[in-house]
Amino acid sequence: MPKNASKKPVDRETTVVLMNEKKWYKPSKKAKNEATVKHWKTAHEYATENPMRFWEEAACDLKWYRKWKVTHAEKKKHFHQWFLGGKTNVVLNALDRHMGTPTENKVAIIWESDSGESRKITYKELDIEVCKMANGLRGLGVKKGDRVAIYLQNTPEIAISMLACAKIGAMHSVVYAGFSAHALRDRIDDAEAKLLITSDVGYRSGKTIDMYSLCAEAVKGAKSIKKMVIVKREKSTKKQNKTRDIWFHELQKGQSEDCNTEMMDAEDPLFVLYTSGTTSKPKGVVHVHGGYQVGVNRTLKWVMDLKEDDIYWCSADPGWITGHSYIIYGPLMAGVTTVMFEGAPNYPKPDRLWKLVQKHKVTIFYTAPTLIRALMRFGDEWVTKHDLSSLRLLGSVGEPINPEAWRWYHRVVGKKKLPIMDTWWQTETGMFMITPLPSMPLKAGSATLPFPGIEADVVDKKGQPVKVGEGGYLVIKSPWPSMIRTIFNNPKRFIKTYWKEIPGYYLTGDLAHKDKDGYFWIQGRSDDVLSIAGHRIGNAEIESAIVSHPDAAEAAVIGKPHPIKGESAKAFVILKKGVKGNDKLIKKLKKQIRKMLGPIAVTDEIDFVTKLPKTRSGKIMRRVLKAQELGQKLGDTSALAD
Ligand code: WTA
Repeated sequence: MPKNASKKPVDRETTVVLMNEKKWYKPSKKAKNEATVKHWKTAHEYATENPMRFWEEAACDLKWYRKWKVTHAEKKKHFHQWFLGGKTNVVLNALDRHMGTPTENKVAIIWESDSGESRKITYKELDIEVCKMANGLRGLGVKKGDRVAIYLQNTPEIAISMLACAKIGAMHSVVYAGFSAHALRDRIDDAEAKLLITSDVGYRSGKTIDMYSLCAEAVKGAKSIKKMVIVKREKSTKKQNKTRDIWFHELQKGQSEDCNTEMMDAEDPLFVLYTSGTTSKPKGVVHVHGGYQVGVNRTLKWVMDLKEDDIYWCSADPGWITGHSYIIYGPLMAGVTTVMFEGAPNYPKPDRLWKLVQKHKVTIFYTAPTLIRALMRFGDEWVTKHDLSSLRLLGSVGEPINPEAWRWYHRVVGKKKLPIMDTWWQTETGMFMITPLPSMPLKAGSATLPFPGIEADVVDKKGQPVKVGEGGYLVIKSPWPSMIRTIFNNPKRFIKTYWKEIPGYYLTGDLAHKDKDGYFWIQGRSDDVLSIAGHRIGNAEIESAIVSHPDAAEAAVIGKPHPIKGESAKAFVILKKGVKGNDKLIKKLKKQIRKMLGPIAVTDEIDFVTKLPKTRSGKIMRRVLKAQELGQKLGDTSALAD
């Protein structure tokens, strides 16, 4: 056990601390001088003394149809509201306010396709596309408050669709275009989506993906779906279901290039985005128009330090919250150029990303540790052969970045000069929560400190702060503007998931510890959620996919450390009586997972067992399986039934 680890961590359910990084990485004079926030300590102190004033000022950076009356209120216990009485729309700030200013002629989106074709769209052109689509959607009967499901790859059409929904006050529900038909259907049903927007095909690593058939299967018998809008990417594709299907371009054709933006209450919902939890049913996280904009705009400008001429690239997918906040809404509100990339980082070669940085003269690059680790494996020369001198800032998100990967990113990509913003946040928080500012000194692997105006801490099960060198539950102690408002159609689950475990605080579900300088180090999820290649996948979701196969009776899935993906999944399966476990069945089970959840959730290993460790109340103790698998001590097994 390392020196700084506490000896008896289990009583208060705290954890041991294994990492002990001490080296400081100070910002260069240049980085400090250029930073929007030059004196980070002053900014922190100012916001800590008066968080409400801080957020009011942040809200004043944006345009409102009508200014709010009350900055924050807790309408019912745990249901926080911000900027009450305010009238706005995220599109008012992402598009409308740029019209008639020099920004309208600036490139809003640089899109790079899988095959290497690029397309540039100015703010004015984007506005026209969005207006035509919004008018088209209205023509199909989509109204304020309706839900529209979107299943598209990282293409301009996903941005146009999201913005068009927001413009008319409909909620978008973007489903990552790697999920299976079954998973898409679950999300459509839960949100009762009226419409599905997709494309005939998608492209990835040179392969053509049949998106239409997957979507057609997903909506088969889905009562809520009235129409399917399809982006035509292949000349040869024909419309198949004449009453249900409509081409994206035909829907836009003949529509007016003007469209009034719906005036929304600050608390009117903007979107629902599904995220995996501990049970098999994903949670529909709801965000609203007012507070979400304020949080995203302030954090992006301060942390990624956006300046007018930046070419900003977040390499995530719009299907995740990172894409919602920091590919689409944030950069457009800031009026900068945002890069959207459809392809894969290692196709056709492992230097695709760096090639793009050079090609488009990217100034800010924001990516995930899983990608950094994957690209590290190919060697430095794939990076160093490209001119990356346009870069001035780097970012990381999605999982803890291990110090080794951090240092590689810093040395090889950042040439030891660029600050790395390791941003900790969640679908539920909507915006960066624990993150450096570019003028701050850094430590490799630490997300540093809570953003100004955010009160975070690490506590034990009873809500008491843990000691330095002890790990515990990461909580947020006071509300923030872009916080989750509820779980769609399930307020009870919202309260139970986030507010009940440690009363008074928002429970993040992550474990963390603070070092002697107050810097936060995230240790991962405290519950049963796997993080495969930066994506959160509930163990239970995979388990339920396995047991949906007729030969499987019970299953438990654990995560194992994986050098590239962060974690890989291993399943322990009890078979139905009389069924023999063999390689053929392993293949069948993997196929089943792929069918139910998509390729990302497929377990690397499957073992057949006759028993699973369970609690008295019947919950599988995955922790026990994991300890056995990794040859670790079992820890407290008092809850174990057998
Ligand atoms: C993890 C992604 C460590 C964490 C924005 C969190 C991180 C979950 C970091 C949310 C980070 C995200 N360091 N862990 N910088 N960023 N996480 O909802 O476990 O897809 O709870 O949002 O990712 O994942 P989500």
